[in-house]
Amino acid sequence: MAVYQATTSAPVNIACIKYWGKRDTKLILPTNSSLSVTLDQDHLRSTTTSRADPSFSKDRLWLNGKEEEIKEGGRTATCIKEMKSLRKQVEDANPNEPKLSTYPVHICSRNNFPTAAGLASSAAGFAALVSSLAALYALPASPSQLSLISRQGSGSACRSLFGGFVAWEMGTAADGSDSYAVEVAPQSHWPEIHALICVVSDDKKGTSSTAGMQRTVETSPLLQHRIKHVVPERMKAIKEAILAKDFDTFAKITMQDSNQFHAVALDTDPPIFYMNDVSRAIIALIVEYNRLSVENGGKVKAAYTYDAGPNAVIYTPKENLKEIIPLILKYFPQAEKYNDHLGLFGTASVDG
Ligand code: DP6
Repeated sequence: MAVYQATTSAPVNIACIKYWGKRDTKLILPTNSSLSVTLDQDHLRSTTTSRADPSFSKDRLWLNGKEEEIKEGGRTATCIKEMKSLRKQVEDANPNEPKLSTYPVHICSRNNFPTAAGLASSAAGFAALVSSLAALYALPASPSQLSLISRQGSGSACRSLFGGFVAWEMGTAADGSDSYAVEVAPQSHWPEIHALICVVSDDKKGTSSTAGMQRTVETSPLLQHRIKHVVPERMKAIKEAILAKDFDTFAKITMQDSNQFHAVALDTDPPIFYMNDVSRAIIALIVEYNRLSVENGGKVKAAYTYDAGPNAVIYTPKENLKEIIPLILKYFPQAEKYNDHLGLFGTASVDG
């Protein structure tokens, strides 16, 4: 008896131009395009195994070893249904193919980072779920085609189908057929860019992205200005900056967009606060660090960005990490020892 099983991984992505707002909550169609950097597979990723078997009684899902209910009509059920229908097309075209689309699936997913750390676990999770089903079903689909489906799991998940620099083009079609992710540049185009993740708090966030963005759409006048007059130009400018490897422009746009996303959260009624005092102190430190560099004739060296939580992600060319890490460690004493996986500091201690 043949075994039909596949395992794949997908990494976390962190947006530089933020997705915040849906024009269709069921299909997960955004009110603006967005752009992110997909992190390295080695560090933060979800790994998912899918198995199809006619002896299974129903579709089932385990996250980090714990079974989760697959709610009828919910996001996971939608992704599985869409993937089965793509498989059905393959079977209809090739009658000799086993009828995997009719078998229930068991899906088992694990993150190699703490889910509670407030990092974008749903993006990696849904991207890994969709790519493991694509491998199980031997689908000829491209990453952009698969992104149409992972988008319906979690909007930001559509961008984790690609590595490197990725845009999610919002599209205009009512059925969502032109709302998918595209590669702007592979990681190899600009490998110097690194992301430093500062876990300020690993508490679960107060207002989920899904609920928060819906409230923003309903109540924030600033969001309307952002989606019409700000994001389209920023998308164009940041793509050009990435292609030209212009870190100065990339960093300025990334910080401006993080600021505007949090301004829009504050403009929501009732207001939403995702950053805390430590988040703001990290912003002040990066602003000062960049100011000193520019005043001395240098360039902008680092860019902060914050999602729907207090944790900072700092983008910087690798050469600056040797300065930035000791700076952060000096002003923000660490609960856990810094993990020098890049070997930047040799055997010397950076927090001693
Ligand atoms: C602030 O993709 O988690 O991280 O589509 O409702 O699942 P849903 O939301 P989600 O929102 C991510 C919001 C963000 C910005 C971004 O990643 O672009």
